[in-house]
Amino acid sequence: MNEIVQYYNDLASTYDQDRFDNSYGNFIDSQERKILDKLLIDKKGQILDLACGTGRLLNYASIGVDASAQMIAVAKRKFPEKTFLQNEADAILLADNSIDTIISFHFFMHLDPNKIDQVLEESNRILKKEGRIIFDIPSRKRRNLLGYKKANWHGASSLSIADVKSDPNFIIKRTYGLLFFPIHRFPDLCRKFLLPLDSFLANSFLKEYSSYLIIELEKK
Ligand SMILES: C[S@@+](CC[C@H](N)C(=O)[O-])C[C@H]1O[C@@H](n2cnc3c(N)ncnc32)[C@H](O)[C@@H]1O
Repeated sequence: MNEIVQYYNDLASTYDQDRFDNSYGNFIDSQERKILDKLLIDKKGQILDLACGTGRLLNYASIGVDASAQMIAVAKRKFPEKTFLQNEADAILLADNSIDTIISFHFFMHLDPNKIDQVLEESNRILKKEGRIIFDIPSRKRRNLLGYKKANWHGASSLSIADVKSDPNFIIKRTYGLLFFPIHRFPDLCRKFLLPLDSFLANSFLKEYSSYLIIELEKK
């Protein structure tokens, strides 16, 4: 088993509390949901949550794929009615051209560039023509500006919009920025004043200087 999956197997029972039961987690979760609500407004067809983890965003999808048995076990308790596949993201046991939309959050950031390509290749295989994949990734331009140095695999990967544009199988439909200011570091009182400005800057010409990008790709 790879190191990342082992890490999440060990974390599964405390993941939700650890990552999302705090002001930073709440902020990220609510911002991501605002964007997903816009992008999935019609909830059309089969939606797959890739690296679904404990099912944080499984309310948007009918199928959850994850390589960690322990993360899936937590998700299953929350969503017994959904279909789960314990698969590697680059070897999913689903037929070609069978899925309308893939969402994948807090996942690509852990993968090295080769693995990102393999996961996009596999997504291309299972998506129908004009199917979409919506994922988040730290913004490479922001990291370059701040001189980010990776310590290990955890959240180590980043991409620019130009990097994604070169993928031969997809076209970029929409992109969003997320977290321009480190909002979570400001006192609660300031946040409500900063939030509108944060959203404005994160989706202005400075988008790529946000912490994260959310990218919607459409299969050619
Ligand atoms: C940070 S969690 C994200 C969970 C969920 N998407 C969320 O946003 O809360 C990363 C997930 O990726 C899964 N994962 C890591 N490597 C994987 C791989 N090669 N194939 C499938 N899932 C993988 C882990 O098991 C873990 O559940």
